[in-house]
Amino acid sequence: MTKKLTSEFNTRTQPMRKHRIFNNWNVVTKGWYIACRSKDLGKDKVLSIDLNGQKLVLWRTKDGVACTDGFCPHMGVDLAIGKVVDEKLQCFFHHWQFDKEAKCVHIPCGEDPPKNLKFNSYATREKYGHIWVWPESQTDEEVLDIPGLENCDLIYSFDKTYERSCHYHITMINGIDPQHLRTVHNISIDMDIDIDETKSNHIEFTLSGKFPTATLQERMGKFLLGEEYSYSMKYADGCLAALTMLKGAKLFNRFTLPELKMIFAYSLIEEGRILVRPIFVNKRSTGLFAPFSNFLKLFMTKRFFKMLQGEDGMVYENIRFNSTSFLKLDAPVVKYIGYLNKLEDSIWSQTKSGE
Ligand code: FES
Ligand SMILES: [Fe+2]
Repeated sequence: MTKKLTSEFNTRTQPMRKHRIFNNWNVVTKGWYIACRSKDLGKDKVLSIDLNGQKLVLWRTKDGVACTDGFCPHMGVDLAIGKVVDEKLQCFFHHWQFDKEAKCVHIPCGEDPPKNLKFNSYATREKYGHIWVWPESQTDEEVLDIPGLENCDLIYSFDKTYERSCHYHITMINGIDPQHLRTVHNISIDMDIDIDETKSNHIEFTLSGKFPTATLQERMGKFLLGEEYSYSMKYADGCLAALTMLKGAKLFNRFTLPELKMIFAYSLIEEGRILVRPIFVNKRSTGLFAPFSNFLKLFMTKRFFKMLQGEDGMVYENIRFNSTSFLKLDAPVVKYIGYLNKLEDSIWSQTKSGE
């Protein structure tokens, strides 16, 4: 028996407020989504993936990675059983060949391809050790640079991919929900919140404050990390979040510590289930202690991530988020929902946004 969705409970007593994009399972926004790890797509290999309700195939060409719809536009054969011939994807069944723009360039029987072929290609990029796909054939957008790491030589590592039973628009709120910092994470800091919306598909929240000294934990925090406590969350296209921790932190209030950075990349599995891919990223250190420094930065990022995840991950297993009763303190969340509802939906949406 399939599990009932939380939205299917309490439908009359607690009616759900519907949004154009936010928490809407029928909509896939335009954005970069992870298809697979780079190492999983070898030369001359055809890889089939399920992504946001789409069956897609990927293969390598000399210019990068090609990605098209996963079913042959002739008779619908799964293109994953085809093969790569001279950088074209050849369908197993009647050997039609498709180039990286999803154009049919060869039919062995000699007839021309039908005019009404419905078959799409998708833009791809390789970054942070993964192959990313955008739900349009071309885009000027790049996979999000983590603030402070633009044009840097990067190191990265990955944590296990995990699933959640709520929309990623909701799990993403965790980073900007000021009330729960106090109630769940025991961080009683009055945060100033700075919001950067210079690009309509991005929004960045920087939260900062001074360490209080009421509890032992707070005094320890202040002793180790300095007066200021600051972090930022940058969201891109409603499907990617970059977290920067320890902004401006100073060990014993003297030695500047490296910021710790990570990405959360999200995609839909099916209605009610999402996939989360955590990627730890930092700037590559150079010099004598580089291997140790590189290891330590990624290791510490992972430790912080595990600590935060352990403290409130369970919230997201059965949440029935219904945004009708916000307080003034929830202003960042309201802002974030407004940002999401202005994003563009893509051809991977089940219905047009708002329907
Ligand atoms: S089904 Fe693919 S070429 Fe005919
Ligand atoms: Fe949290």
